[in-house]
Amino acid sequence: MQKLEIHQPVSYDRKDWQRGYESQPQEYNYWIDDVEGEIPSDLQGTFFRNGPGLLDINGQQIHHPFDGDGMVCAIAFANGRAHFCNKFVRTEGYLAEQEAGKILYRGVFGTQKPGGLLTNIFDFKTKNIANTNIIYWGGKLLALWEAAAPHRLDPYTLETLGLDYLDGILKSDEPFSAHPRIESKDGKGNTLVNFSVKPGLSSTITIYELDADAKLLHRHSHLIPGFAFLHDMAITPNYCIFFQNPVAFNPLPFALGLRGAAECIKFDPNRPTQVILIPRNPNQGEIKVLEAKACFAFHHANAWEKEGEIFVDSVCYESFPDVEPGKDFRQLNFDSIPAGELWRFRLNLQEETVQHEVIERRCCEFPVLHPDRVGQSYRYLYIGGAEAESGNAPLQVILKIDLVNNERQIWSAAPRGFVGEPVFVPRNSFESEDDGWLLVLMYDAANHRSDVVILDAIDIAQGPVARLHLKHHIPYGLHGSFASDIAG
Ligand code: CO
Repeated sequence: MQKLEIHQPVSYDRKDWQRGYESQPQEYNYWIDDVEGEIPSDLQGTFFRNGPGLLDINGQQIHHPFDGDGMVCAIAFANGRAHFCNKFVRTEGYLAEQEAGKILYRGVFGTQKPGGLLTNIFDFKTKNIANTNIIYWGGKLLALWEAAAPHRLDPYTLETLGLDYLDGILKSDEPFSAHPRIESKDGKGNTLVNFSVKPGLSSTITIYELDADAKLLHRHSHLIPGFAFLHDMAITPNYCIFFQNPVAFNPLPFALGLRGAAECIKFDPNRPTQVILIPRNPNQGEIKVLEAKACFAFHHANAWEKEGEIFVDSVCYESFPDVEPGKDFRQLNFDSIPAGELWRFRLNLQEETVQHEVIERRCCEFPVLHPDRVGQSYRYLYIGGAEAESGNAPLQVILKIDLVNNERQIWSAAPRGFVGEPVFVPRNSFESEDDGWLLVLMYDAANHRSDVVILDAIDIAQGPVARLHLKHHIPYGLHGSFASDIAG
């Protein structure tokens, strides 16, 4: 008798997960009254988060959530209360498509204009969708997307003020990555380090360092051989570190209108990952390139220098999951693509060697840590994870990893909750590295709405200190940040 193969995920229902990808076209503005537990009275400031708010344009499905129009949420905390507001970034593309009521642009991740080959052929016009990250820096709230300039928003109303070129630091066609790193300088004014990539047969990486007033400290550009697909970087006091994953880009199907640009990226497991170290002070030393095991990393957790070696913790995939044309991302077969794992790389610059070890095998993504530890050795990492200890699955738990004692704490939202990136907020006068809160936007499928979950980072396993029920859902998002000087 033939045995029936049943692939039933144990920790979640696929339909629950899929509903978190419904568009949220409404914009809201209200005090959050439905609260379980208590909002800590000393939690003051605003949690900003960005992500795709629309997964369709007037019923026309977009092909990949990374192509969705940026929608920013602001949860402002003051005196034990919280206020919610969300708004779409009024990009040129968002306004034009809402006006037309249909898709007008091709997306990087494969969204095509209706009409097939003839309308898409040789159309290189992409939409700056401003959907990846949101930071408050130098008095400006900036929605970031890695292939173009930021959009500036009003930090209190989220109204779009327009494209922002950082007071002339960026040229009009110059991108600014969605993954800046902020280096804490012990009260001496933090430094923002960011980069931009212009990919091609050779790729140009530009590094920018901005002081606390967003004035330019350093800017330098470097030509790197090969096609660079760089989403994130890590920093140490002396280096910006990039992982050039072994991917090749075949632009022909994109130019012909058959595929989105990201669908033309192919992973080659036979080539190593190149670890590129660019000195932060361009007058000090040369670029170094080391070779590591083939892997794909979107996100780095942290990096630091110790006794002549450099350590980098990253979320790594065995290969780059191909973005397939014609497939609905909601039908994704989790078992068929690799899960993210937390790896630690050890770089020896003298011997030019890279070793790696796996720190966490549980499927995980969106690592965060105490802001003062960025670029320094650190003890605690917080990251979204799957409920099951093995296999690939949606993120349903928050994991706290004690990297010194190799201990774990878990808070789980399973079976009907799905989590995004946690944001760590230190207490005002913190005593230990984990003395603070984790803010998490969680999709609650049971009520088809989202919760803002506040966890005490010292003991996340005890469950939320407060759960703020929103009146609606927020689609799964990308990155966010906390601005302590913007209060409700
Ligand atoms: Co990212």
